[in-house]
Amino acid sequence: MLPGALNDLGNTSIVGLQWGDEGKGKIVDLLTEEFDLAVRWNGGSNAGHSVKVGDKKYAFHLIPSGILRPDCISVIANGVVIDPLKLLEEIDQLITQGVKIEDNLRVSTNAHVVLPYHKLQDQLGEQKAAGAKIGTTGRGIGPCYADKANRSTAIRLVDLLDDARLKEKLPRIVAEKNVIFRALYNADPLDWQPMFEQYRSCGEQLRPFITDTTKLLHDAWHAKKRILFEGANAVLLDLDHGTFPFVTSSNCGTGLSVGTGLPGRAVNSTLGVVKAYSTRVGSGPFPTEQDNATGNLIRERGHEYGTTTGRPRRCGWIDAVALRYTAAITGATGLCIMLLDVLSGFDELKICTAYSIRGATTDWFGSDALELAQAQPVYESLPGWTEDITKATSYNDLPPNAKKYLDTLERHIGVPVRIVSVGPARHQTLTK
Ligand code: GDP
Ligand code: IMO
Ligand code: MG
Repeated sequence: MLPGALNDLGNTSIVGLQWGDEGKGKIVDLLTEEFDLAVRWNGGSNAGHSVKVGDKKYAFHLIPSGILRPDCISVIANGVVIDPLKLLEEIDQLITQGVKIEDNLRVSTNAHVVLPYHKLQDQLGEQKAAGAKIGTTGRGIGPCYADKANRSTAIRLVDLLDDARLKEKLPRIVAEKNVIFRALYNADPLDWQPMFEQYRSCGEQLRPFITDTTKLLHDAWHAKKRILFEGANAVLLDLDHGTFPFVTSSNCGTGLSVGTGLPGRAVNSTLGVVKAYSTRVGSGPFPTEQDNATGNLIRERGHEYGTTTGRPRRCGWIDAVALRYTAAITGATGLCIMLLDVLSGFDELKICTAYSIRGATTDWFGSDALELAQAQPVYESLPGWTEDITKATSYNDLPPNAKKYLDTLERHIGVPVRIVSVGPARHQTLTK
């Protein structure tokens, strides 16, 4: 199924180059037919990756989309923050859908655990932020990563496997959280005891999957197994390189070594996944946003509603300034242009090639959110196409104006297009 045209990739990192939901899940599902391992290394259940196979639809939050391939081992590595309740729910759901999990999933002992107080803090914090909301998914991601950095208030998966370790930590941490939550939000105290019982039970249920994934990955690398890395979230949401503070709490395009324990040279190629237009969920600057009939049309045609929260996604034209930046940050060696079919039927398509900020033109994406909020996009306008492209079986089937759109993007971003997606199904994928 995987076209020979992609045989040169080697160990490959898949990263989103926009604000998430670019179609990473589809690409991971597609490529893992030819890989031995699929590895998630950042974020948590804030991610939502939808994959369509035949008439079945799968939604992934923590488990790599490679799990649909029976010959591929899916690894959740140390850099991911894991909500065990969500992970168990996801495992159950996939088993119900007939997916083989038992021998195919490994989860890192060192992954940090999202606990109820993280989700509570995330939600109460956002409520209190009123006008300054980040628009988080409410999944406790930020507070969990904060506790990881804080160390003394952190719990890792390995702690759930040992009652003594968990009992040493949980009562102390919950007591500390209760003081803070009472003072900040006038919240009722949480009881550590039922939490202890619930999470030790989660540990027991997850025990068969929990292992030292760093060793597993090094062994696999040295045995020349083919490894695919599934990035979650996206570079414009990266904690360091995104539009701070409107970002998530992990490094999404840049933290692969930290999140897996493998050195950078274990990765041979980086495929940047890009929607043929732009979307964003939550708050923050979005220079090419079309908060108008064009944006509404893109949302309806692209079914742009979140996999994780169901929120309508903000929609707009593609932004080559942002993409040049995120391709540079990640060192992307190739692009996957997704959802091209959604643009069929527009008379005119626009590509943002520069910003005008207070009268000065720039083609560099400065990630400062306040500056970006003032950026006026400078567009190159291209003619659209009316043909239905969802049945295209090769790149050459695409209408001339669609090819022109892709060539123009390639020229502005400076990275070759390797894959073009014209529908959610596996077969609706073209290579260039
Ligand atoms: P991810 O978070 O990057 O994995 O992306 P999501 O799964 O959140 O969102 C992408 C959505 O687009 C999913 O519902 C996919 O099934 C769908 N999708 C992927 N590629 C295409 C495509 O080429 N065309 C269309 N119409 N839908 C696609
Ligand atoms: P995938 O992997 C889209 C966004 C949230 C919010 C901000 C912070 O499906 O592409 P968080 O809960 O992480 O603290 O929220 O980041 N966000 C995503 N948006 N797709 C994602 O993941 C996202 N992960 C986080 O909407 O604006
Ligand atoms: Mg998503």
